[in-house]
Amino acid sequence: MIPRRLDKFALRLAEPRDRAACYAVCLGTGDSGRDATHLHADPEALGHVYVGAYLAFEPELALVLEDAGGVCGYALAALDTRSFQRRYVREWLPPLQSLRPAPSGPAERWSRDEQLWNLYHHPELFIPESYAQYPSHLHIDLLARAQGRGLGREMMAELLARLTKRGSPGVHLAMAADNHRAARFYARLGFRELARGADAVYLGRSLQ
Ligand SMILES: CC(C)(COP(=O)(O)OP(=O)(O)OC[C@H]1O[C@@H](n2cnc3c(N)ncnc32)[C@H](O)[C@@H]1OP(=O)(O)O)[C@@H](O)C(=O)NCCC(=O)NCCS
Repeated sequence: MIPRRLDKFALRLAEPRDRAACYAVCLGTGDSGRDATHLHADPEALGHVYVGAYLAFEPELALVLEDAGGVCGYALAALDTRSFQRRYVREWLPPLQSLRPAPSGPAERWSRDEQLWNLYHHPELFIPESYAQYPSHLHIDLLARAQGRGLGREMMAELLARLTKRGSPGVHLAMAADNHRAARFYARLGFRELARGADAVYLGRSLQ
């Protein structure tokens, strides 16, 4: 149940006013779980790709963690990945495409920002082969000061309960292949590998 207090932290649903803080958490964990601030001149690009649409389209599945220093974590989900992706492409991306043109030149020379701007025009839309089993998907990120205290487990329990209550049979997620700490976290929470790409691993967990 939320809102809920967890020692000096509070867990609650995200509100529109949390957007900038959630984008900052995304940037603060955007380098395979580590701070990516130094890698980006555009501090909003990561949040635009990985956070904003969940706050806008799935507010009942958008949790934030906060302490005296402000929002320090979020857990975001989409109940039905295909429906979410349709809205993402039709409604979320067009304003971003107007904001930044697709980068030109060889992709291996693109900056991290350009790689993200490219995703405004050519999004990576993963659908697991076993979609019927894992139609939902999620993201979770906590800033360093909130990590390792059992808060990620608490947030996942709340988010998975919300997905279960809404009838989801299972959830998947994408993780950077070199994020070994997160891999141990997800394994502990019962996720298993579904697929593997060049830089990403896709994990899934049944909710039944
Ligand atoms: C990954 C992350 C969400 C985990 O949340 P957390 O609050 O740090 O994890 P918790 O303290 O709730 O740990 C939950 C369980 O996972 C285990 N775990 C967490 N991190 C671990 C690690 N690095 N190594 C081994 N086990 C780990 C814990 O031991 C714990 O097990 P237990 O409850 O059975 O004892 C969080 O650390 C984080 O946001 N990291 C940076 C961003 C990131 O990598 N996000 C994932 C992107 S795919």
